[in-house]
Amino acid sequence: MLSKSIFLCLAISILDGASAAPSAPPGPPSKPSEIAREWWRDSFIYQIYPRSFKDSDGDGVGDLKGIISKLDHFVDLNVSAFWLSPIFKSPMVDFGYDIANFTEIDPIFGTIDDFTKLTEEAHKRGLKVILDWVPNHSSDEHPWFAKSVKRIKPYDEYYVWKDAKIINGTRHPPNNWLSIFLGSAWEWNEERKQYYLHQFAPKQPDLNFRSPALRKEMEEALLFWVNRGADGYRIDSIIFMYEDAQFRDEPVIPNSGKPADDPGNLRHIYTQDLNETYDLLLSWRKLLDSVGGEKRIIMSEAYTSLPNIMKYYKYGSNVPFNFMFVTGLNNRSRAIDFKRSIDGWLNSIPKGDYIANWVVDNHDNPRTATRFGTARADQTSMLAAILPGLGVIFNGDEIGMEGLDIPWDQTVDPQACYAGPDRYKAVTRDPERTPYQWDNTLSAGFSTNKTTWLPVNPNYKTLNLAEQKRVQSPTSHYHIHKKLIALKQHPVAKSGSTEVILVTENILGVVRRLPNASPLVLLINFLDQPIKVDASAWMNIPQDMTVYVASNSSGIPFGVHLDTAALNLPASASVILT
Ligand code: GLC
Ligand code: MG
Repeated sequence: MLSKSIFLCLAISILDGASAAPSAPPGPPSKPSEIAREWWRDSFIYQIYPRSFKDSDGDGVGDLKGIISKLDHFVDLNVSAFWLSPIFKSPMVDFGYDIANFTEIDPIFGTIDDFTKLTEEAHKRGLKVILDWVPNHSSDEHPWFAKSVKRIKPYDEYYVWKDAKIINGTRHPPNNWLSIFLGSAWEWNEERKQYYLHQFAPKQPDLNFRSPALRKEMEEALLFWVNRGADGYRIDSIIFMYEDAQFRDEPVIPNSGKPADDPGNLRHIYTQDLNETYDLLLSWRKLLDSVGGEKRIIMSEAYTSLPNIMKYYKYGSNVPFNFMFVTGLNNRSRAIDFKRSIDGWLNSIPKGDYIANWVVDNHDNPRTATRFGTARADQTSMLAAILPGLGVIFNGDEIGMEGLDIPWDQTVDPQACYAGPDRYKAVTRDPERTPYQWDNTLSAGFSTNKTTWLPVNPNYKTLNLAEQKRVQSPTSHYHIHKKLIALKQHPVAKSGSTEVILVTENILGVVRRLPNASPLVLLINFLDQPIKVDASAWMNIPQDMTVYVASNSSGIPFGVHLDTAALNLPASASVILT
């Protein structure tokens, strides 16, 4: 039975709104044996949004058994691993990002036995399993929170509590901090007679990592899943881990033009990117390294400045997510903008054996096909494939899934719900979370239920995996992605040099070279009309090259020879030559 209605916005009651220097980071993993243990190098990792991937029991919500039944999809694609958005016990206010027990699987997804089966089956196929670790907050339905409200030790300090500010006899939040989901980041608790901090929804109270007992508890939870087969973690919302111990007001940005409840009005110097965050990460790195066996991956989610992102490398993140394609660049960006962003990243990575990463998409931002337009659906994956390091794709990218407009009365994403009917469109994350489109049967083969937790995109009749797998669709998004993922194993892609070249004002080029080998070349036409160009001399590439792969809308078949001195690049096309 689908209890969907309880998640609709209308059911949500809208409510009112610098530290010590971190210790020395570890040196780079320079020993060759260490690098060899980093199984994620030169691969793609696939993000699964479990609610939307595959429903095995017909309740309209995806689950672990569903994922198990589809593991061969990852074998076909040849990704090294998949990471799962949270599968833990949760009231689902933020669809799993509000955790009520860090060591229990939510029944909607299955049982701990299902998880064990999932890791066993994945490992048999050579696939690694990465879990989402959400340390910044729990659900207010976590038993810790109830004990914290009652001031039971040591739980009394598990959350960030603060007395009210009394002005002219009335109660106000302790300071001006604002929540990412709009309004004050403080919520009054009548029983404890204090405010608690929530950087996201009021039902997501921030945990207090200055409590040693909490830190210990969270370490145990990290090990719990590693001992049950997890190969590493994606760490959620890491920039929000600590707040200023003096609870100072954040500086207001003058004339931001934003409504008063919008966190974009403040410079987040006291609620984001605090130094202690890095030390905490380093302690988790050491903890995971202390467990024997395969090397565990840490990926970190930090929407922050480039220097702040880069710092995560040195404190134990193998993959400080690079969101340039997701948030930094958009369909108005020109070839030069791409060049500057890509070079900027590559030049900023600290010296050592750290690797780049390229996030194509995720569950928090409009889909790449929506951001850049359907004609450019493959463009980001093309870049992620040819550029050095790791590519990260989101379920549906490999078939060019498109965002679905969800009207207000069907909106369920809390971020959209808190924004309200006039503002939800700018922030809603429902469009990219619709069910995966497996085939053209009922509910796109996602569920046997005709009602699913978010509607299936009606374009599934033609846009689906089964259709794209057919031999008659050799240049489908699916076949393109198979080739792109395989490219990571190409010796030139693995260890060649990298140049990002402005071929013309509207053509971006990437060249990877290795002595005595034919280069790998990517060309992207940024105009929505064909361009003719002589790329050969300017890029110093052979005149006769072969199409390894070309974007779906380009109409260029794979394997044909092209004259790089007289190239005709179709409108919006991306093509990789060898
Ligand atoms: C991360 C998640 C997002 C969630 C938020 C709060 O940004 O990716 O989906 O809403 O953290 O946990
Ligand atoms: Mg289900």
